[in-house]
Amino acid sequence: MNILVVGRGGREHSIVMQLAKDEKVTKLYAAPGNGGMAGQATCIKIDEMDIAGLIKFAKEKAIDLTVVGPENPLNAGIANRFQEEGLAIFAPTKEAALLEGSKQFAKEFMKKYDIPTADYATFTDANDAKNYIIKKGAPIVIKADGLAAGKGVVVAETEVQALQAVDEMLVEQTFAKAGATIVIEECLTGPEFSLMAFVHEGNVYPMIPARDYKRAFDNDKGPNTGGMGAFAPVSDISGETLVYTYREILQKTAAGLINEGRPFTGILYAGLMMTAEGPKVIEFNTRFGDPETQVVLPLLVNNLLDVIVDVMNGRNPRLEWEENFCAGVVVASKGYPASYKKGISLPQFQTWGNCFVAHAGTKRVGKRFVSDGGRVLLVGSKSTSLERTIEAVYQTLAPIEQIDEFFYRTDIGKQSIGTF
Ligand code: AMP
Ligand code: GLY
Repeated sequence: MNILVVGRGGREHSIVMQLAKDEKVTKLYAAPGNGGMAGQATCIKIDEMDIAGLIKFAKEKAIDLTVVGPENPLNAGIANRFQEEGLAIFAPTKEAALLEGSKQFAKEFMKKYDIPTADYATFTDANDAKNYIIKKGAPIVIKADGLAAGKGVVVAETEVQALQAVDEMLVEQTFAKAGATIVIEECLTGPEFSLMAFVHEGNVYPMIPARDYKRAFDNDKGPNTGGMGAFAPVSDISGETLVYTYREILQKTAAGLINEGRPFTGILYAGLMMTAEGPKVIEFNTRFGDPETQVVLPLLVNNLLDVIVDVMNGRNPRLEWEENFCAGVVVASKGYPASYKKGISLPQFQTWGNCFVAHAGTKRVGKRFVSDGGRVLLVGSKSTSLERTIEAVYQTLAPIEQIDEFFYRTDIGKQSIGTF
């Protein structure tokens, strides 16, 4: 099969690494891909939002299947357009992707289908939003309705912070159209986990749970980012909770989307908080999570391509997982998620244990790699002990200590250490 992966991040590198191992794959392309994928996929200079360009390429190269990583092309209708051209694509239509594209839509959907989530209200007027905050008090959570690369959420500890967030989104329009409507939510507490599933219409096949670290700095300090590290599986989430999440959240969502005339094909991702009342949805994504994918896919025993093809054709896929932990730590450019420098040389890593590197914002210059984005790469590893896994990752990361322009969190997975 000829396969095209759309995207350029660590998640897409992880998908490419899985597909590159599969002998059924004749040609593997990534659009636009990144510096680290060379050798595993042919990177082509087509932007992920150039849907017409991607369609033309898929036809020219007789692509049998396209797999989409990022949310922006999904919301721009990449799946709709590929399907209109008769091209196979593992991705939701823009109607189904609205579950991620609009937090207001997602909240109304969850309310209608009785899917557990935080209480909320939506606003377009700053004064109304502020009156609501003053009535409810802090802590309280302010979210831009539209896509904001994981940065459009403010968990306000004080009323002053909450009111500021309203000004930033509704008055100063920091997120432009994505922040023209805001959702204000009750602040939930509890450990978080992410559960992704392969979905085709009413059929839902969950993966193993992962934990992502969204804040920039250790001990969950600093601004929200796209994700600074992750590990899987998450031992403090019980099997019972996973079954409940599967039934009451993922399956209900897939069924609800069919009922709304928006049947879903692709990856459904629930970001969850384990509250005293049980798991509640913090957010839905309609794609593979980043960096969760980089720590979940390495534990898949069977071939990713077989799973996708089976799911798309209405067959039960074989989904078998290693009895190992996988953890990964993101190296980011200092300043991320705000502004940062690019073009900084990366060291050669001496990989310890079962370590691997998933590239994200990197570019190849001659034989070396230089940084080319906020999240630069992820170093991951796997073994039967989470402690040894994490140790191997941090040993591999040691050379980064010498480079002032990069940073990473030093506490990924450390509170959850255990063995299989
Ligand atoms: P989101 O982009 O919606 O996943 O939010 C980013 C992060 O903000 C989440 O991973 C949580 O840590 C936090 N967050 C979002 N919504 C809430 C909420 N209702 N209560 C507490 N924390 C939240
Ligand atoms: N790790 C969260 C996300 O992919 O949005």
